[in-house]
Amino acid sequence: MSMEAKRRIGIVGFGHVGHYLAQKILEEGDKAGLELAFVWNRTMKKMDGVIDPRLQLHRLSEFQTRQADLIVEVAHPDITRDYGERFVTAANFMIGSPTVLSDPNIEHRLRETATTSGHTLYVPSGALWGGEDIQRMADRGTLKGLRITMTKHPDSFQLKGELAEKNRVVDGRTILYEGPVRGLCPVAPNNVNTMAAACMAAHTLGFDHVIGVLVADPSIPDWHLVDIEVTGARNKETGQVFSVTTKRCNPAEVGHVTGSATFLSFWSSLLGCTGHGGRVYLC
Ligand SMILES: NC(=O)c1ccc[n+]([C@@H]2O[C@H](COP(=O)([O-])OP(=O)(O)OC[C@H]3O[C@@H](n4cnc5c(N)ncnc54)[C@H](O)[C@@H]3O)[C@@H](O)[C@H]2O)c1
Repeated sequence: MSMEAKRRIGIVGFGHVGHYLAQKILEEGDKAGLELAFVWNRTMKKMDGVIDPRLQLHRLSEFQTRQADLIVEVAHPDITRDYGERFVTAANFMIGSPTVLSDPNIEHRLRETATTSGHTLYVPSGALWGGEDIQRMADRGTLKGLRITMTKHPDSFQLKGELAEKNRVVDGRTILYEGPVRGLCPVAPNNVNTMAAACMAAHTLGFDHVIGVLVADPSIPDWHLVDIEVTGARNKETGQVFSVTTKRCNPAEVGHVTGSATFLSFWSSLLGCTGHGGRVYLC
């Protein structure tokens, strides 16, 4: 075992993802140079028999007493709305529910706080394939368009308002939404984190210009599909346009919001959150 200090991880939210990450740190933390600083959940009972009571945090407002190096939110977008700035002020912060960033004030405040505190706001790439390439194109000013289509069985969606109504009566492949991701995040906060991550990577387009398409398809009960279409610059002489398309087919348990490969993707993201200075960083 290395004698170097371990990175202390605070987990906020003990649902499917939080449980998985906490368990991974308990089992593989020594090897990965990580230890649990705390685990918080709205209902403490859920942690009984799994998390050592000394690692359970009773009041989230007291998170600073545990001196985490990295705080990971895997509870609900509201947690980042209410605590995000405090988290980034005190530590590096991985935002598991990035759909909350579709609120321009929250995005602005968190970007600012990252810059002033010197801590990194990490956005996990989730089911986004090629996110770093998209980020690089945005950095170089060559990204011209981005369209993301997510297709799942209707039971795998947790939707609000009109979209929920539309989803209830689906009897064949149906487009539930097609338009800027900004309008989709508030009505599908748990389903389009991948699109939100894409908007952060494609920062020159952002939530108003990245196009999201949500499709319900009863014929695929155990798959989550993500199609990504990237458009780059046009060659002035030949008129040719750079483009990349990818299709991610993720096996998923029937009715589950999170595909199984996404848990591992989250773990890989967490391992990469080693501190990248006061900025937003796709991990
Ligand atoms: N970035 C990604 O690719 C990605 C992938 C999977 C999940 N997620 C997000 O991560 C979060 C957790 O996912 P999960 O599958 O573990 O969900 P889950 O429903 O299994 O667990 C959520 C946990 O947070 C708690 N919680 C729910 N609402 C809350 C609120 N308003 N305030 C405080 N606590 C609350 C619940 O008690 C539960 O313990 C969700 O927001 C989900 O959208 C993101």
